Amino acid sequence: MRLPATSRALRASSGRWSIAARPTIIPRSIPIPSRPAFSLREWSSTPTCRIPSTASPQKTQKSTLKIEDETHKTDEWTNTPDTILSHVGRRLYLDENHPLAITRQLIESQFTGPDFGNYSEKNPVVSTKNNFDVLGFPEDHPGRSRTDTYYVNDKTVLRTHTSAHQRAYFQQISRNEKTRPDEVGYTIIADVYRRDAIDRSHYPVFHQMEAARLWKRPDTNPLAASKETTAMIMADLEKLPSHDVVVEDPNPTLHDQRNPLQDKHHSVEEVEAVAAHLKRSLELMVIKIFTEASKAASKGGAEVEPLKVRWIEAYFPFTSPSWELEVFWQGDWLEILGCGVIKQDLLINSDVPNRMGWAFGLGLERIAMLLFNIPDIRLFWSKDARFLSQFRAGEITRFEPFSKHPACYKDVAFWLPPAAVTGGSAAGGAVPFHENDVMEIVRGIGGDLVEDVTLIDEFTHPKTARKSMCYRINYRSLERTLTNEESNELNLKVREKLVEELGVELR
Ligand code: DAH
Repeated sequence: MRLPATSRALRASSGRWSIAARPTIIPRSIPIPSRPAFSLREWSSTPTCRIPSTASPQKTQKSTLKIEDETHKTDEWTNTPDTILSHVGRRLYLDENHPLAITRQLIESQFTGPDFGNYSEKNPVVSTKNNFDVLGFPEDHPGRSRTDTYYVNDKTVLRTHTSAHQRAYFQQISRNEKTRPDEVGYTIIADVYRRDAIDRSHYPVFHQMEAARLWKRPDTNPLAASKETTAMIMADLEKLPSHDVVVEDPNPTLHDQRNPLQDKHHSVEEVEAVAAHLKRSLELMVIKIFTEASKAASKGGAEVEPLKVRWIEAYFPFTSPSWELEVFWQGDWLEILGCGVIKQDLLINSDVPNRMGWAFGLGLERIAMLLFNIPDIRLFWSKDARFLSQFRAGEITRFEPFSKHPACYKDVAFWLPPAAVTGGSAAGGAVPFHENDVMEIVRGIGGDLVEDVTLIDEFTHPKTARKSMCYRINYRSLERTLTNEESNELNLKVREKLVEELGVELR
């Protein structure tokens, strides 16, 4: 279900799976009638159980999947369709005239050598261990659910975030200790995958960047050297430029309940220093990005307000304390990234027990959509020269829409199977229904011809207690006009598949 993020309380709660990920804004110059200008995607808040199947098993499953030249056995956890796998290997972020690559370079330019190595991760297949376990995700975390994540099999997924590589990069820092002692941090860019709703700012494949920066402490009894560690971090902070952008940061760095100190491992003064370095580094990055965005926007005639940023307390299983950074942009506060002081247990498990530091992660499409005024996330995947020819390496320019083809709305209404419950819980033996399964069916059939899917009606029959849902599917190509017959045909297939896979009864 789509939940608007309004309450701050939610942010500090562990029920929240992820924030730094999805683009949730659409440039304002393009009117969008039915959706708020700013809404956050929450991962389903119902804890998941370690049971493989939520929807009925895929009927046409192959026994293996070949991804980036590696063959993987499938099992009852597999839910990754070929339509998703067809995106693997495009590496849009390396195509230097592509808006995602231009955005990557803008961010990397803030995190350069010798302190930072800039990397990309080609193969999206990672173990559940690296994607979840080593990062401290609890067993019942909603992010582990098959309704939210593409499983290759029981033990492997398409990474849901770049944090899946944190451990490997910490290990690399440890391995290179002698040969590259100055490299104390990294940035990574990669494609990430999530089963999700369909609209103009959500796509099942998107890109994240993340970075970390570590400082060395003595091997034994590091807390006794806390003063020296703090002084070292503060000296690095002094080397960063200052800025005069308004920053709202009302909360204390540490809070016993909401944002606790890892007191077994860190002193308050060390954490204050890491937090100060983290915040200044990320403020500078955001100022750089949004100064470029403002320049492009004012060239395009838009009125640009002075930049403001704010820090919000957050929760991630792999950092404490944790924050999100928001930017005030064209009338809305936009969530840009998640970050925090890295959990020491993660560093201990990654061969760098004698270091502490910060990490952050952000979604690239959200930023690129703002920078280039790109109104629909599907455009990033377009091979149409009318899109691609508009961008040049190193330049931030406003996208000129080349056409707007007509929308074609089709409604699909159905009764859920009698025993079905919504919310993704399989408790009590009931058949769970999850909206993401509907999205996946529509995506599998309509692909990039579907602009968005919205739940427009939902009710429970007072006598039979059966639940009825009605979704409105908007078929619209970015590149050509769809005929009514074409969208009818697609919609017919969607209806058939809903019955076949989810056991619904069409109305
Ligand atoms: N992986 C998080 C997400 O997908 C973002 C994130 C948050 C990355 C905090 C980090 C971090 O490295 O420290 O929402």
